Amino acid sequence: MPYPTSESLSKRLKRPVTAITAYDYPAARICDEAGVDLILVGDSLGMVVAGFEDTTSVTLDHMVYHTEMVRRGVQRAVLVADLPFGTYETPEMALKSSLRLMDAGADAVKLEGGFGQISKLERLREAGIAACAHIGMLPQRVKEEGGYKKKGKSEEEANNLIRAAVALEQAGVIAIVLESVVAEIAAKITNSVEIPTIGIGSGTQCGGQIRVIHDVIGAYPWFVPPFATVHGDVARVMRQSVIKFIEENE
Ligand code: KIV
Repeated sequence: MPYPTSESLSKRLKRPVTAITAYDYPAARICDEAGVDLILVGDSLGMVVAGFEDTTSVTLDHMVYHTEMVRRGVQRAVLVADLPFGTYETPEMALKSSLRLMDAGADAVKLEGGFGQISKLERLREAGIAACAHIGMLPQRVKEEGGYKKKGKSEEEANNLIRAAVALEQAGVIAIVLESVVAEIAAKITNSVEIPTIGIGSGTQCGGQIRVIHDVIGAYPWFVPPFATVHGDVARVMRQSVIKFIEENE
């Protein structure tokens, strides 16, 4: 089966784009049936599913396994899978890793970074693989950066982000995730490109929003990012249900 083209995926991603992560079949199916535009098999699964400290321990095998599960639940939304840390160091490595995610059922892959990723995105484009970019705070670099920090605070950083977004659009990406970017700069980036910017912790003036599903449904009570609006309390429902089960069988 040929992979979906960037053009066909772009037609399905009209602003405002609603995007959410999913890591398994039931969550993917519920999000797809609810009408979300884009489902991301995010490497955030390293934290909210696998219990790692950050995303850097996630492997390509983990991502392939979860992408296969999610594919079975998605009929309608665009399905994007993250290339995990260390799997896209060169254009050829990016291609080889992306092919595994595409063969697991992704419609497109996502990678973190700006100018340094252009040659890899060009290699993917040549091979007919659609891609999303991710700039601003890059979770795969959290160790080097010493934490999750807001981006675009200085003029130099803000200008670099805007120029990177334009270069990524020219390299053919179908959307750009903006993570933890100063809201005013995220708005400027959004106005500088035609493709949707999809914000997380980057204010309301993006071309769409993405959230980690556990934050939206309240399924990871031990850490909730400051920008998250929690719409459910799945952790409490789960805990109470298990307590009831124990009580009924004691
Ligand atoms: O891995 C992930 O969930 C992500 C989102 C935070 C955009 O990259």
